[in-house]
Amino acid sequence: MTILAIDTSCDETSAAVTRGWTALSNVVASQAELHRPYGGVFPTVAKQAHRENIEPTVQLALKRAGIKPQELDAIAVTQGPGLAPALEVGIAHAKKLASEWRLPLIPVNHIEGHLWSVLVQPRRRTPSQPAPDPVATIQFPVLALIVSGKHTEFVLVHGFGTYNVLGRTLDDAAGECLDKIGRMLNLGYPAGPVLEQLAKVGSPTTAFPLPLTTVKTFDLSFSGLKTFARNTLNALGGSEVLSRQEVCDFAASTQAGVFRHITYKLEKVIEAVHRGTTEFDPAPVSELWLGGGVAANTALRAALRQTLRASSRRLGLATPLVLRTPYTKRLCGDNAGMIGVVGEKKATSQFLVRSRGITLERLPRLSLR
Ligand code: KG4
Ligand code: ZN
Repeated sequence: MTILAIDTSCDETSAAVTRGWTALSNVVASQAELHRPYGGVFPTVAKQAHRENIEPTVQLALKRAGIKPQELDAIAVTQGPGLAPALEVGIAHAKKLASEWRLPLIPVNHIEGHLWSVLVQPRRRTPSQPAPDPVATIQFPVLALIVSGKHTEFVLVHGFGTYNVLGRTLDDAAGECLDKIGRMLNLGYPAGPVLEQLAKVGSPTTAFPLPLTTVKTFDLSFSGLKTFARNTLNALGGSEVLSRQEVCDFAASTQAGVFRHITYKLEKVIEAVHRGTTEFDPAPVSELWLGGGVAANTALRAALRQTLRASSRRLGLATPLVLRTPYTKRLCGDNAGMIGVVGEKKATSQFLVRSRGITLERLPRLSLR
C-alpha cells in the first residue's frame, strides 16, 4: 500500500509517504523556534503553526516521494495521545484529503508509531525491488523502551497489536525531565539535545538519587530528579553563578542520573521477563527496541548497550541481547514515517476503519492499553 501519513501530536508538523516498511519521504516542520520564548510547547501557538504548515508539508512529502494523490491507497493519521488542539489540525486535514481523494482513513496511536519506528527502512536505490519484510527476521516477544518528551515506558511486544505495558512513568517523562532541568540551566527549549552536547565535555560530579529502588514494579519516576536538581542549583546560589565547565558538569550529572534510573529498571525488567514473575510467565526476549525523541541520545544508547551486555552475562544467555534503534535520528523524534508503517499494518490486519474513518475523533489520552 502507498500511504500518506500525518502526525501533528505536539510541536512538529509532519507528513510522510510510506510503502510497506519503507519511508519514501518523511518531512518534519519543527516549531521549536516558536516555542523557545515560552520554554515549552504553547498550545495555541502550536495549533496556529500546524494550520499554516500542514498543507505545504503534505505537498512536500508527496513531491519528495514522487507520488501523486491518485497513486495513494490510504491516509494514516495520529489520533492520539498528544496535545488536543494540535491533534485536531492533523485529523481535520486528513479528513479533508480523504474526502477529496476518496481514500480510507486509518487512525494510528502515536506511541505505537514510536514502538515500530525501529523497523522503518530507508528508500531503496532500486525501488522496483520491494524491501524484505524486517518483521520476518524478528524473534518475538521483544522488549521496547519508549523515551520521549511525553512518554517513558517498557512494553513487551508479542507481535503487531499485542502489547503488555510492563511499566511507565508515574509523573514526568524522561525527555520532559531533561528539558525542565535544562531550562533551569537556561539552555532553551527543547534542552535535551543541548544537554547532550554539554555533557560530552563535562564530568558527572553531582550524584543524583536513584528513584523507586524499594518498589518491585517497573514503573519510573522523574519528578524527584527535577526537584533534586532545583534544590542543588539553589544551594549553589543559582545556575547564573556557575562557570561554563560547571554547567557542562551539571549536564553530565543530569544525564547520568536520568539514564541510571532507566537502566536500573531495565535490568529488573529483563530479569523478570527471562525468569518470569508471579504476574507473567517467562517471556525471554532477544532484543530491546528503543524509540522516542530521547532515543537520539548517544550516551543513552551506550548505557543501554552496557546494561544489555551485563544482563546477558548474568542470565548466562548464549546470544547476548541487542539494542535496535531507528536507522536515522529523524525517526526518533515525532515524525509521520512511523505513523505510515503502522497505518499499513493496521490496514492489512483487521483494524482498518474504512468509510467510518470520516467520524474519527482525536484521543489526546490514548494509551497502548
Ligand atoms: O518523541 P519526541 O519528539 O516528542 C514526544 O513525543 O514527546 O521527543 C521530544 C523529547 C524532548 O524532551 C527532547 O528534549 C528530547 O526528546 N530529545 C533529546 C534528544 N533529542 C531530543 N533528549 C536527549 N538527547 C537528545 N539528543
Ligand atoms: Zn512522540
